[in-house]
Amino acid sequence: FGLLREVDSYLKAYLSQKYINGACFSDNSLSSLSGGGSIATGEGLAQQQEPLVQNNVVRERILRHRSLQLREKQQDWQESPEGQKMLEFRRSLPAYKEREALLKAISENQVVVVSGETGCGKTTQLPQYILESEIEAARGAACSIICTQPRRISAMAVSERVAAERGEKLGESVGYKVRLEGMKGRDTRLLFCTTGILLRRLLVDRNLKGVTHVIVDEIHERGMNEDFLLIVLKDLLPRRPELRLILMSATLNAELFSSYFGGAPMLHIPGFTYPVRALFLENILEMTGYRLTPYNQIDDYGQEKMWKMQKQAQALKKRKSSIASTVEDALEAADFREYSFRTRESLSCWNPDSIGFNLIEHVLCHIVKKERPGAILVFMTGWDDINCLKDQLQSHPLLGDPSKVLLLACHGSMASSEQRLIFDKPEDGVRKIVLATNMAETSITINDVVFVVDCGKAKETSYDALNNTPCLLPSWISKAAARQRRGRAGRVQPGECYHLYPRCVYDAFADYQLPELLRTPLQSLCLQIKSLQLGSISEFLSSALQPPEPLSVKNAVEYLQIIGALDENENLTVLGRNLSMLPVEPKLGKMLILGAILNCLDPVMTVVAGLSVRDPFLMPFDKKDLAESAKAQFSARDYSDHLALVRAYDGWKEAERDQAGYEYCWKNFLSAQTLKAIDSLRKQFFFLLKDAGLIDCNKENCNKWSQDEHLIRAVICAGLFPGICSVMNKEKSITLKTMEDGQVLLYSNSVNAGVPKIPYPWLIFNEKVKVNSVFLRDSTGVSDSVLLLFGGNISRGGLDGHLKMLGGYLEFFMKPELADTYLSLKREIEELIQRK
Ligand code: CDP
Ligand code: MG
Repeated sequence: FGLLREVDSYLKAYLSQKYINGACFSDNSLSSLSGGGSIATGEGLAQQQEPLVQNNVVRERILRHRSLQLREKQQDWQESPEGQKMLEFRRSLPAYKEREALLKAISENQVVVVSGETGCGKTTQLPQYILESEIEAARGAACSIICTQPRRISAMAVSERVAAERGEKLGESVGYKVRLEGMKGRDTRLLFCTTGILLRRLLVDRNLKGVTHVIVDEIHERGMNEDFLLIVLKDLLPRRPELRLILMSATLNAELFSSYFGGAPMLHIPGFTYPVRALFLENILEMTGYRLTPYNQIDDYGQEKMWKMQKQAQALKKRKSSIASTVEDALEAADFREYSFRTRESLSCWNPDSIGFNLIEHVLCHIVKKERPGAILVFMTGWDDINCLKDQLQSHPLLGDPSKVLLLACHGSMASSEQRLIFDKPEDGVRKIVLATNMAETSITINDVVFVVDCGKAKETSYDALNNTPCLLPSWISKAAARQRRGRAGRVQPGECYHLYPRCVYDAFADYQLPELLRTPLQSLCLQIKSLQLGSISEFLSSALQPPEPLSVKNAVEYLQIIGALDENENLTVLGRNLSMLPVEPKLGKMLILGAILNCLDPVMTVVAGLSVRDPFLMPFDKKDLAESAKAQFSARDYSDHLALVRAYDGWKEAERDQAGYEYCWKNFLSAQTLKAIDSLRKQFFFLLKDAGLIDCNKENCNKWSQDEHLIRAVICAGLFPGICSVMNKEKSITLKTMEDGQVLLYSNSVNAGVPKIPYPWLIFNEKVKVNSVFLRDSTGVSDSVLLLFGGNISRGGLDGHLKMLGGYLEFFMKPELADTYLSLKREIEELIQRK
């Protein structure tokens, strides 16, 4: 005890000194921000002692002492009445029966694959079993378990639940870390974090020093980060033979992962769910009493609708997405004209190209009125659909007394207060309806759901490598996802699932969704591979579970070379290294760095935060015009969505100072929640840039040029290049063209959409998305000289290369005269560089 007391006082003195010097924060700031750091993940005591106590024996003793304390605490909780009740619940979960088998497999094998139905207790129980057994064996203080989640909201929700199950507050033995937020303490031994956070930690800590268990959850989703992490971990395992890796999946495709890890043992947790009746469109229409109308008996209005529907079907056919075409073949074979239906109010069509709000409304009304009690979970495609339907349903006459309906949204960006309501059981007689994205498929469990309504689609990014264009379309889900959605209805009693599409469409679904690695641009990933020093990009990616196409890899590498993050030999440049430290896409990181160097930081941080969170301008379905004109006010004829965002944010900050932020948002159709997120992201950027030594300590200086709108345009151009399209003002219309896609269009909410003339020869844009045509989101007008000076990478790769590349653009857009301007600019720059 004497020894321990001594050590304790040493430790205190040491930590306080560290704190005063601030030293530990400056070396560690990156790692702590990114989820690493000694305190974060429980290298904890063992590490912090090192400089003080050389003696291993003493270290061991301290660890043991802490471990014993943990064990005592755990026993106290488990013996308390609340603890007993909690244990009883936990023992009722299917995972409990497998507890010993799981622990045995984990201790005997470096890699274990665990599968089990959603809700069986993988996420909340398995990490806890490991923690508990380590604590029971008096090794608690030495263990450090990291469990990754694909989404921030599940990392937060799960950690809160697990802390409650352990009778603790968050941040004691259980914590979480997601971008911008975290809750963890000195004694945190089990950390739930997003996969991205663990990848960032690997940047500064390649061997995951001190970590004893890594659990990768929801691997069946095949997210890009998870697939990437698996390659990195596979590489790490031989170097850390005592590290344990556990992969958890909700579906039964465990073999794939097991064989990837050389035949790792697979354990399945048999779950129990009640049977769920699957109803497809044909059954639903019959059941809900909608009349199917044969094609030739439709009145004029119906004829017109039918005609439109057929046109849409043709358009669908033209799209050459493989999944769409199998579904479309199926529809053709089944003669889907059948699915027009008449309700008392109107004639409706089921249309494979839209989500069918009308149909969802009618099904909801049917359940609310005719079916037994129980919560309804509706799967929609995305945030905007959810908000839109929620608005429509709020005052829907057919849903009856609004006080008897509890309408909730569930998506990745909801507020945590709203999050809790989703899990709570409503009062008797109140019908809970949750409108959710596919995140409610596996990562979130709402216990009282009895009815599931499945629209059959999910918004999915795909990537057209040939044209180097990302596409974002609501696409048909896979059979696995549909089954998963259905399963959500059978948690507490037999349930019903309303699939809002014909059976033949279901039959045409793919078995599993294509992994994200195969359907997204790979720029950020390639940059990460380089900054983690994982060798050749293409070689590394070829060892993925399902390697991406070589063309996608080539595009990504070329892009990184164009923006100057990689040199000709694929080596990381100084810019590239800096970019890899910033938690945003490379192009946005480049803007930040330039904003800092060119002293116009504030507006640039706003633009980048806005682009990486989401658009704060709301576009309510029924007030689109009003909302668009509200946004246009912020643009003050400068033809820039980005500058409009800066003005809106600045205005909000000012209103906040007068406590009028809320009214300001309401009046201007802005989302206060998004603006707040932008605000906190900006703060994080500031610290990261300051840490990297890129910001002048004098805060005034870094905003010396913040009012210079031309400079900000230039920085935006430097970041977003080569996202460029040429503007041709014609008499009545404006034609926009990009090099890859030919003619493109603007989203209607852009301040540049619908203006009679754009007085700039170019628009620089953040994102183009193929829906039916190619649409540009968020654009800013730029002049020739800005494009010449800031488009591309002058500083490295040489001016000639830059000219050659830009020349391609200029020639393509038939502006050869610009080449002369360019040559003279080039001479000037060369002189400047020589003088420097
Ligand atoms: O990961 P998996 O889908 O296998 O299940 P889980 O997330 O560990 O949840 C296991 C059980 O814990 C669920 O069936 C719920 O009954 C309960 N749970 C809860 O009550 N509240 C939460 N926030 C999370 C889970
Ligand atoms: Mg889970």
